[in-house]
Amino acid sequence: MKKNFYITTPIYYSSGRLHIGSSSTTILCDALKRYKRSMGYDTRFLTGMDEHGQKVEKNASLKGLDPQEFTDRLANNAKDLWHYLDCDYDYFVRTTDKNHIEQVQEVYELMIKKGDIYLGEYDGLYCVDCETFYTQSEVGPDKICPSCGRKVISAKEPSYFFRLSKYQDRLLEYIETHPRFIVPEGKKNEVVSFIKQGLQDLSVSRSTFKWGIPIKSDPKHIAYVWLDALFNYLTSLNFLEEDNSLYQKYWLNSEVVHVVAKDILRFHAIFWPIFLMSLDIPINFTLYTHNWILMYGEKMSKSKGNVIYPKTFVDKYGSDAFRYYILREFPSLSDTISTPEDFISRYNSDLVNDFGNLVSRTISMANKYFNSKVHKKESNNIYLKDVKNVMIETIKLYHDDLYDFRYDKALQDLNKFVSRTNKLIDETTPWVLFKNQEMDELEAVLYMLLEAIRIQTILYEPVLVKCVPSIYEALGLNQEFTSLLNPKLFEIEEYNVSSLEKPLFLRENNPQQAKEELIESMSIELTKEA
Ligand code: MSP
Repeated sequence: MKKNFYITTPIYYSSGRLHIGSSSTTILCDALKRYKRSMGYDTRFLTGMDEHGQKVEKNASLKGLDPQEFTDRLANNAKDLWHYLDCDYDYFVRTTDKNHIEQVQEVYELMIKKGDIYLGEYDGLYCVDCETFYTQSEVGPDKICPSCGRKVISAKEPSYFFRLSKYQDRLLEYIETHPRFIVPEGKKNEVVSFIKQGLQDLSVSRSTFKWGIPIKSDPKHIAYVWLDALFNYLTSLNFLEEDNSLYQKYWLNSEVVHVVAKDILRFHAIFWPIFLMSLDIPINFTLYTHNWILMYGEKMSKSKGNVIYPKTFVDKYGSDAFRYYILREFPSLSDTISTPEDFISRYNSDLVNDFGNLVSRTISMANKYFNSKVHKKESNNIYLKDVKNVMIETIKLYHDDLYDFRYDKALQDLNKFVSRTNKLIDETTPWVLFKNQEMDELEAVLYMLLEAIRIQTILYEPVLVKCVPSIYEALGLNQEFTSLLNPKLFEIEEYNVSSLEKPLFLRENNPQQAKEELIESMSIELTKEA
């Protein structure tokens, strides 16, 4: 039976336009889904929108729109963006979906019945933009939100509370006994030390605004947006519906991965598993938490004028180049500083000079020296043996890297293999072999180059989704020889290559001017509405 794999992005707030930061999480999830699918898994990739709460209500009214109209528009924009970036999600959940609302209402009733949620009064501080409650000591004398730097408001209202403290020890034990629950290790340590300071009961309802899910047994109260939002991962599997087959398949019998950035680590590593414990649902997920992409070293923000939208890069260089850049520079263990000049230099060096060039040179040599047919040939040449070893080692490293969700590392390892392969051309000088008519040796070299390119293409497939099919076609490969699960090394008896229809990546010949154009396009994009 096929194994199942369920991967999710955070559901992004429908309060503004999505930038390259949010795109980075979505692109990573998409590439991981494609990787698992190639490895034979039955996959489900979920993304969506977090549409309730005071922030959305406020932003809609600033635009003079009804919140539903506003969120409809933003959900459509998000879907368009994911298509434009070739992110092949399987389901797009919206917290305004009827079946999400009904299931969240039932969650509250179940938790109230269990005694985990009780009515009390909230008296404290709240950041509307982060939808987060804070204590006086967390915000300091100026009442500044420690996460986004905006001013927090005072909130005093009747509220339902969730007994987080009741589950504190169970959660700590769960974390200690499940090393793959919070990845990477550093993030786990952060969570553990936070929990050890002691968990306060959490306010889980608000009564001073309307845009949200009313609690069924007490509809003056609106569900806390984070409780509402976190349950998207399960409501979209219909976990409380009569037909819960998706839940059976993709939660109970599946590998489950939630990908988030560090800003929302605590919600996912503390609240979410505790809510699941309250409902007796197996926790069963791995939380992969990454860092941020910063623009010129600063967190992107519209007011600083340093937000980058994907369009700036994609219209000019294509979605493959953008996906590649994001994954190669992915902020896995620390923040990544991104600049337009970095983008251009990665593009020129990795895609144009290294991989693109290797493919086009090899294909043209196969055409020129062998009239497009290259047979399997062995040779004792030490350089060929070395390339073969690097190939085998790279495949192994690639799988290991992706087990840790490290596409940045996987691409780094893959690039080393590409460079090693390019070097083979200099070492063996095929044009000299041809001149001396050492045709057997020449054929062995070309066969090795073609095999190396075939494997590289298979490994790039989850990333470079548009250009990979054209490489397979130029190499004359049928599906049997494009499988990651079973790449069949050195089994092809004869390559029958043709030419690439067009170059894979066009060189950026004037990086300085291109950089200025990108910056110009960034500022044009900044003026556009969500
Ligand atoms: N709505 C909540 C999530 C609820 S999930 C149950 C939310 N939304 S958000 O729109 O603010 O998205 C936050 C997420 O966007 C981050 O966790 C991260 O995945 C992504 N990113 C936003 N800016 C980012 C960067 N600058 N860099 C990397 N990722 C970033 O929080």
